[in-house]
Amino acid sequence: MKESGYLMKYVLFTGATGGLGTLCVKELSQKGDWTVFATGTNGAVLDHLRKLPNVIPLKMDITIQESINAAHSTVQSFTNSLDAIVNFAGLTYFTSLIEGDSVDAIEKLLSVNVMGTVRVNRTFFEMVYKGRGRIINCSSESGWMTPQPFAGPYVLSKYAVEAYNDSLRRELMFLGIPVIKIQPGSYDTQLTQQISTYFNKVINETKYYKEILTKMKPLMKMELNHKNDPRQLVKSVIKAMESKHPKLKYRVGTGKLLAMLELFPEECVDKIYKLMLTLHK
Ligand SMILES: NC(=O)c1ccc[n+]([C@@H]2O[C@H](COP(=O)([O-])OP(=O)(O)OC[C@H]3O[C@@H](n4cnc5c(N)ncnc54)[C@H](OP(=O)(O)O)[C@@H]3O)[C@@H](O)[C@H]2O)c1
Repeated sequence: MKESGYLMKYVLFTGATGGLGTLCVKELSQKGDWTVFATGTNGAVLDHLRKLPNVIPLKMDITIQESINAAHSTVQSFTNSLDAIVNFAGLTYFTSLIEGDSVDAIEKLLSVNVMGTVRVNRTFFEMVYKGRGRIINCSSESGWMTPQPFAGPYVLSKYAVEAYNDSLRRELMFLGIPVIKIQPGSYDTQLTQQISTYFNKVINETKYYKEILTKMKPLMKMELNHKNDPRQLVKSVIKAMESKHPKLKYRVGTGKLLAMLELFPEECVDKIYKLMLTLHK
């Protein structure tokens, strides 16, 4: 215990105000052997997290370096080392890459999903190094699977998270700091709920894809209706945080149909999508 009464293992958690992050923070709070710096920008959810034992909510916008620096100073007033950083903050989008606001969307997703993670790890690295801790980065099944059409901004951001994670791991292994990926499938959170909203916007505004997207709608609904139990995901995150010999990646809740597509060569996957979205009624 520290003088302040907080427990000795410390984690900085981004995306703590989101669907999956909040579940992880609640579980860590109950376990009682972690003090969680739970970060996000949503003041109402941060206030809610404040009521949990062993949780210190912090406002931190990961797209703004000054905001990360301010959170860093607050964390340092509690501890000079961290046992883990868990990067869960992330956004999604659904759009064609050649229409609408796709350029802005790509910039935004890269700024949060990729650069946010880069900034946070860079800023807090010294504290993790002092704590002989570890870094956990949240990717997605979209970060390793063959891309689905119209998910471009999210796919390219999560592929970049994967490349960043693996590059960092091959660097930090020389310093004894594990770097671990979480690769979730689909879970019912605000992030997945927003996809239907974005879908409706695109189908109303598109010049090229109205027919294709009309055919895609039932398939999309089917995929979004299938939701995994998030308890397994929470378990995997905690394993990644606590295991003496953590795996390089924790793949959890992988979509079965999407996983089947992985068995085919790229040309075949193109044909399958083309058949489904041009013939399917
Ligand atoms: N849900 C899924 O099916 C699924 C599948 C695969 C991967 N994932 C990944 O899992 C992670 C969490 O997703 P989720 O489903 O829990 O999403 P969510 O409920 O929408 O939560 C998103 C989180 O990201 C935070 N965030 C967004 N922009 C931010 C910014 N500029 N600065 C700081 N925090 C920011 C949000 O905080 P504020 O609202 O407080 O800003 C919130 O805590 C994401 O990385 C996502 O890509 C999710």
